[in-house]
Amino acid sequence: MLLATDSAAAVNAFDLASWSGARLQAVESALESWVRVDAGSELAHGARVQLVQAMRYAVLDGGKRLRPLLVLAACEAVGGDAKLALRPACATELIHAYSLVHDDMPCMDDDVLRRGKPTVHVQFGEAMALLAGDALQAMAFELLTPAEAPVPAAMQARWCRLLARAAGSAGMAGGQAIDLASVGRQISEAQLCSMHRLKTGALLQGSVMMGAACGRASAAQSAALSCYGAAIGLAFQVVDDILDVTADSSMLGKTAGKDAQAGKPTYVSILGLEPSRAYAQQLLHEALAALDRVALQDDRALRALADTVVNRFN
Ligand code: IPE
Ligand code: IPE
Ligand code: MG
Ligand code: MG
Ligand code: MG
Repeated sequence: MLLATDSAAAVNAFDLASWSGARLQAVESALESWVRVDAGSELAHGARVQLVQAMRYAVLDGGKRLRPLLVLAACEAVGGDAKLALRPACATELIHAYSLVHDDMPCMDDDVLRRGKPTVHVQFGEAMALLAGDALQAMAFELLTPAEAPVPAAMQARWCRLLARAAGSAGMAGGQAIDLASVGRQISEAQLCSMHRLKTGALLQGSVMMGAACGRASAAQSAALSCYGAAIGLAFQVVDDILDVTADSSMLGKTAGKDAQAGKPTYVSILGLEPSRAYAQQLLHEALAALDRVALQDDRALRALADTVVNRFN
């Protein structure tokens, strides 16, 4: 275990860009090869081809890929098998991409710009966007349960359970329901916190735990990683709320200033800008403190990713 002062120095010395480079490439090429129409399929009907095009449009060439990187970093932290971790890494990104497609639809946030491109419903129509989201979600679970690859059945089951919990009514989808019900309302900071933990935090925390499930984490390591994931998961949405106010659309690749315009309660609207920034820093400290509590094989990437979550510009 690193001491607090040593750990800060270790984060500074760690080169996240070069750590991420090869891993991002592996994720991109795996997504590129998995999200496609099966060659030679007699089911290659034009409409189905278009559905897969919409899925590829939603998931390829864009996004920070934070959730896959968290899976891979957590796997390394527990000394897990990095080759196995590529499947859960991509599965989290498929769920995330699906959540964005639906989040942008007119019945939700009604956004026209995502990852610097027209949103999926603008490009392909609403029905196709709905189906692309559905199909991306299904594909995530298909990836986690390969017939051909040697992934132990117990590991597949654990991944599926973690991802299903993170994405469903007790996680992302539940948080999104609360988000929509909160538009134009006064809610307390505690209610905002639990909404953000669900709609965004759950999938980030789930990504960490799916990475940990690629190895043999002790109960203490699992508990620490779970605290780390919860802290950065909430911090991520606090910073998303801040960037909606402070960044511009070209930096974000999505329309800035939407939250106030839509009457969404956010950390900025409830606490104010500077207290929100301070809270994000506090959550970063909580995340790092959770890692300080246990010995891990190599937690440098997790530490650097936590720093990126809080101190990012897009
Ligand atoms: C945006 O997520 C949606 C939220 C959960 C706040 P990201 O900021 O990770 O989006 P991409 O993947 O980089 O586009
Ligand atoms: C989205 O939150 C959370 C999701 C589950 C997609 P936001 O609605 O704030 O995300 P952006 O700002 O549109 O990316
Ligand atoms: Mg939203
Ligand atoms: Mg939105
Ligand atoms: Mg937002």
